Amino acid sequence: MMTSWDWLKIETARQKVATLPSVVESLLRYGTTSQELPKEAATIPLRPGRDARVLEIKEHPPKVGLQKREGQIRLLHDLGNIEMQAMELAVRTLIEFPEVPKVFREELAEIALDEARHFALCLDGLEELGSQWGALPVHCSLWDAVADEPEVSRGDFLGRIMLVHRYMEATGLDAGEKILMRLDSVVGVKLARSIVDTIVQEEIGHVSFGSRWYRTVCAQNGIDPHEHFAKAYPEILRRVPRTEKPALRLRELAGFDAFENQVVLETLSKTDFSRPRPALLPD
Ligand SMILES: [Fe+2]
Ligand SMILES: [Fe+2]
Repeated sequence: MMTSWDWLKIETARQKVATLPSVVESLLRYGTTSQELPKEAATIPLRPGRDARVLEIKEHPPKVGLQKREGQIRLLHDLGNIEMQAMELAVRTLIEFPEVPKVFREELAEIALDEARHFALCLDGLEELGSQWGALPVHCSLWDAVADEPEVSRGDFLGRIMLVHRYMEATGLDAGEKILMRLDSVVGVKLARSIVDTIVQEEIGHVSFGSRWYRTVCAQNGIDPHEHFAKAYPEILRRVPRTEKPALRLRELAGFDAFENQVVLETLSKTDFSRPRPALLPD
């Protein structure tokens, strides 16, 4: 039987997508206590397997305009890289949090499958544009942001929801809106636009999942969600800086209330990004 460790270590992108359903199914079958989780499945590799060169974002080649085919290839490659990490992070949470509500795990398993489908859309799109996965370098920034979680928040279920679904996936909405606007101003980008549009629409559901479970877990633990959000958001922004303009309407559709959107706006305006990280996707 392939363990989830084996799956995370798979290098071939298409194979990883194809084998995801069986890994997710076995992770859901493990039962509800960590004792029932096979030991080998509970091990997380430092980094997942890759069949593309892994480079820090700052070492990636300069971006190319979206009106050029190379620019569209770059966009789909960068986007595919994010989808792949989102898929792997969903599996990581299923491995690391066996004792959380079964419904949460089932919904997260669906999200993992969505991410795999998004990744496959990018892989197909790259081939339609005459390129292929691995033609460009990739980064592991999203994976690393979770792997490098401070010791204090390790194993914190609420913290994981906040970081992955209410921070990283929500900034994905911000980036997605910006890219769609850019694509709207370029002709001949129908393929890229339809892929990005499909992904952004479905990501709203993933962020909604995060918003909904965030409130549920807060309520179960007697935590004030606004108080927690106002404290956690600036900490995450400092640790994993993202400078995109917030897509407030999309965030609202995804369950961000007025208070939370205000915290996002104010924190961004107050944070000193003197050493901003390069954007994960083309400007
Ligand atoms: Fe996705
Ligand atoms: Fe997602």
